[in-house]
Amino acid sequence: MIVHIPGVLSAEQVAQCRAVLEACPWTDGRATAGVQSALVKSNMQIPLDAPEAQPVRDLILERLGQSPTFVSAALPLRIMPPMFNRYDAGMGFGSHVDNAIRYAMAGSVRYRTDLSCTLFLSDPREYDGGELVIDDVLGRQAVRLPAGDMVLYPSASVHRVAPVTRGSRLASFFWVQSMIRGDDRRTLLFELDHSIIEARAALGDDHIASVRLAGAYHNLLRMWAEV
Ligand code: NI
Repeated sequence: MIVHIPGVLSAEQVAQCRAVLEACPWTDGRATAGVQSALVKSNMQIPLDAPEAQPVRDLILERLGQSPTFVSAALPLRIMPPMFNRYDAGMGFGSHVDNAIRYAMAGSVRYRTDLSCTLFLSDPREYDGGELVIDDVLGRQAVRLPAGDMVLYPSASVHRVAPVTRGSRLASFFWVQSMIRGDDRRTLLFELDHSIIEARAALGDDHIASVRLAGAYHNLLRMWAEV
């Protein structure tokens, strides 16, 4: 399931974040790539531990916690600290699958990457190319979103960033370890959550159908969740 989450950051927040990030140190993105990814990766990144970017990481995590769509779609157990990348003209990232396990806090914390997130920080009019191309069961999706919008997709999918041909594409990217390991189960729970909202609106919160649907949701979560 590929989910578009509009307005994770407002226009003002995007501007604030960009001002902070522009003053941060930028290094070759291959420093955090695996052996295979390093062959196809060409971008710039802010080092994982750069303290200058901490206010932006904190703001993104706070805003994600306030997004019902994100919480419902990701069912997050842990969110990795947001990272930042920039693709200037001529840069791109060829086809790859993200590493299954990632480390944070100098290797003391391990995350399983279930979901990959890209939060766009550049307006699409500022650059050409730079689409995030995701191979999904439904086919190939090319994603290029307004600044402040985010896309959530299964980390298991083969994906790439098409070369930027003009301007610069700035984004935050990070991974989520979900309470629900499989995309099929997360998709089912996401759809069920929507059905509950619709049933409540149509029938009322206390209608027996609303109560039973909510019960089915929580009982599936109880069956499948790792917490
Ligand atoms: Ni990737």
